[in-house]
Amino acid sequence: MILITGGAGFIGSNFVLDWLAQSDEPVINLDKLTYAGNINNLASVKEDQRHIFVHGDIGDTAHVAALLDQYKPRAVVHFAAESHVDRSIHGPAAFIETNVNGTFGLLEAVRAHWSALAVTDKEAFRFLHVSTDEVYGTLGAHDAPFTETTPYAPNSPYSASKAASDHLVRAYHHTYGLPTLTTNCSNNYGPYHFPEKLIPLIITNARAGKPLPIYGDGQQVRDWLYVSDHCAAIRRVLESGQPGEVYNIGGWNEKANLDVVHVLCDILDNLDPKSSGSYRDQITYVTDRPGHDRRYAIDAGKIAQELSWKPAETFETGIRKTVQWYLDNQPWVNNVQSGDYLKWVEQNYSQRSGSKENT
Ligand code: NAD
Ligand code: TYD
Repeated sequence: MILITGGAGFIGSNFVLDWLAQSDEPVINLDKLTYAGNINNLASVKEDQRHIFVHGDIGDTAHVAALLDQYKPRAVVHFAAESHVDRSIHGPAAFIETNVNGTFGLLEAVRAHWSALAVTDKEAFRFLHVSTDEVYGTLGAHDAPFTETTPYAPNSPYSASKAASDHLVRAYHHTYGLPTLTTNCSNNYGPYHFPEKLIPLIITNARAGKPLPIYGDGQQVRDWLYVSDHCAAIRRVLESGQPGEVYNIGGWNEKANLDVVHVLCDILDNLDPKSSGSYRDQITYVTDRPGHDRRYAIDAGKIAQELSWKPAETFETGIRKTVQWYLDNQPWVNNVQSGDYLKWVEQNYSQRSGSKENT
């Protein structure tokens, strides 16, 4: 079996569902259930014996050690993190606690467990650390995309905390020989995405008749990857990646934020038209994010060449599926919105001044 952390979050829950759809290997899912962890994401596998949910903190080394001892997983896939840049600006402490100290605690438990394994189990064991392209910093419009050797230059408390965790993972391989794998992926989108991030926020706000907030001029560029493609890439790296190596994962889909929002509005105009006008009428420019990275772009050539992975979805197919998923899953959205999310919206947007598009 494998042990994953953060499997009730956006990417982790997609990973669990995809894993169980493609394999009979059980998954132990360790998650603290922070505001971003949603057990409803896993409702379809509630009765599935192959999914063992454990409520706990990755930084609780004794708890992790007991789980490793009890279940003896062949691999750990580490998704758990505080993941939202805006939250890291408002309150960086939680990011240091989970992403840095938590990853450290997890690594210590894994190191102790791995050190005591028999030689063949030791060689076969893997610790896969799921990270982000944001550790590489920001690109100019004409710069080459990030490769695995691009120097780290994190600009937000979130990306700095992820960079620190990447360095710890690297050091545990280099110093102790722990068979680690690190993946640095671009922006994901798809089902079960918490509506504080751009794409689900725009879809849910649009349908609720609320403003669609564009930070600054909306010309910041992100490279978008459909979440199932990220999960498939992680499975490939787990299966065939070389211990100690880093793999960049991206969608070859660079888009400016405003273009993404226009596409979302146009799909909604088509699938769920308003009684009058377009969803684009709700677009509102708001004060920019402090330290906002201008452009991320990933060169995913290494994983394509060495592990034969490439994304199955284009942006056009993935984004349409995503909008349709939100239209089909309004109860999930209602459930999320009745919680802590509402307080977050108030905290993040009440301090930003706004103006309408074209005014
Ligand atoms: P998310 O915020 O949706 O989910 C994080 C999950 O981790 C939640 O279920 C939460 O309850 C859990 N968690 C948080 N702190 C924990 C702790 N101390 N112990 C145990 N569980 C804890 O995040 P996501 O978007 O699914 O991202 C997953 C991973 O992928 C993160 O490491 C993130 O840095 C990375 N990543 C995300 C993206 C993206 O676009 N979302 C892109 C690249 C990399
Ligand atoms: P986000 O989904 O938070 O991901 P990240 O910051 O990790 O890239 O944001 C994606 C882009 O969208 C980023 O450039 C910030 C921008 N953005 C907005 O313009 N408005 C919003 O309300 C949000 C949440 C993000």
